[in-house]
Amino acid sequence: MTTFRYATSQILVHWVATLAIFFLLITGTFILSEMPNTVEKIGNLRIHMLVGGVVGLLVLARIWMRKSKAAPPPMPGYQLARVVQVSLNIGLLVLVASGTVLAIQSGTFDAVFGTGTLPADYMDYLPRKVHGITSKVVMALIALHVAGALYHQFIAKDGLLARMSVGRGRISTIKR
Ligand code: HEM
Repeated sequence: MTTFRYATSQILVHWVATLAIFFLLITGTFILSEMPNTVEKIGNLRIHMLVGGVVGLLVLARIWMRKSKAAPPPMPGYQLARVVQVSLNIGLLVLVASGTVLAIQSGTFDAVFGTGTLPADYMDYLPRKVHGITSKVVMALIALHVAGALYHQFIAKDGLLARMSVGRGRISTIKR
């Protein structure tokens, strides 16, 4: 079946995940990693870990929906877009995996959901370094992803954004 828009469920998951990822990247960088590891940090960590887990499920749901639902036809230059999209999904899954391993290794799960205490310094743990570096890589990939979308919207003017938007806006046309 040919479709010109992503399914509503895909569009919804894309934008909910986007909001959650921005929240995690911004609060992780500017709040969490700047806070001392005292009891006051536990509430922030709880939110971070829960939202991070939800993002992991949303990324898996997106991968599954991309494979199981009809997709709009590819646009010119889609190979580059696909490389960025696949790298972004991998980067997000690495963030969730490294965050989870870090939380297990450092006793953070016990501190946040039980009675344990936070570690002296997260940087003593290798998954923390992986988590920090991957968060920067993901930021760069998001910048490329957004630049691609803006190029299509304002320079190529092919209405690409409408494919990922709800409503009755103009759907994509392919210039060959
Ligand atoms: C896509 C999901 C996630 C994103 C985008 C994300 C993002 C971030 C960012 C940006 C930082 C700060 C890194 C830095 O500035 O060097 C951070 C720290 C952290 N994240 Fe995540 N994270 C995610 C998932 C998770 C998960 C699932 C867990 C645990 C279950 C987790 C646990 C942590 C911990 C323990 C820290 C360290 C805080 C500190 O150094 O004080 N993250 N995360």
